[in-house]
Amino acid sequence: MNKTGELYAGKAKTVYTTDDPDLLVLEFRNDTSAFDGEKVEQLERKGQVNNQFNAFVMKQLQDAGIATHFVDQLSKTESLVRNLSMIPVECVVRNRAAGSLCRRLGIEEGTELNPPVFEFFLKDDALHDPMINDSHIETFGWATADEVAQMKALTLQVNDVLTNLFAGGDLILVDYKLEFGRFKDRIVLGDEFSPDGCRLWDANTLEKMDKDRFRQNLGNVIESYEAVGRRIGIQFD
Ligand code: C5P
Repeated sequence: MNKTGELYAGKAKTVYTTDDPDLLVLEFRNDTSAFDGEKVEQLERKGQVNNQFNAFVMKQLQDAGIATHFVDQLSKTESLVRNLSMIPVECVVRNRAAGSLCRRLGIEEGTELNPPVFEFFLKDDALHDPMINDSHIETFGWATADEVAQMKALTLQVNDVLTNLFAGGDLILVDYKLEFGRFKDRIVLGDEFSPDGCRLWDANTLEKMDKDRFRQNLGNVIESYEAVGRRIGIQFD
């Protein structure tokens, strides 16, 4: 398998085509962005930390029977993945109130959410990723009703696996965002799972150990990502 060209550069990852049309290479970069790309910085080692973090979590999900695009880690900053046809929808699950939920509904940060809240957002930077519902997704053709049901079920299945995984490291999985795509007519988890796309708090002190450290200028961003990773059993290079 050889990389053949750059397909797409997102805010934190670059996607490359390969000589196999079913496979892509994801390169995790050090670029870190927040607030729709208004705040952008290079954080040393972020690419390699998130690549290893993502590989570990994707393997855990696969072991739990959840189909993901992940094939193999290729290098410190690159992973081989299946070439999905991505659905432009973000699936968010919240176990505790934080971030936009608190702003939108006036809920106090940290409030336990039982059952967890599930939300869809449209992946569209120009529109600032507006919240949408299953009716919008079906009517505008972003996915079928059956695909919507599968995305929701899979996102909640991921919650069971990862809530337990992080609890084992004395961490609360507060919320997270997933993206899905189609691969040979199956709905498969794509994109990444790393502290860039979830909230993780220390279970005892409620210290924030995720990208909120970057958003809120709390410092030690990558050190916290690594600390979280080590607590769930990742051995970083
Ligand atoms: O901003 P909000 O509170 O809605 O984010 C919910 C969760 O989804 C957070 O863990 C955040 O990091 C993640 N998210 C993301 N990418 C986005 C929007 C949210 O990773 N574009």
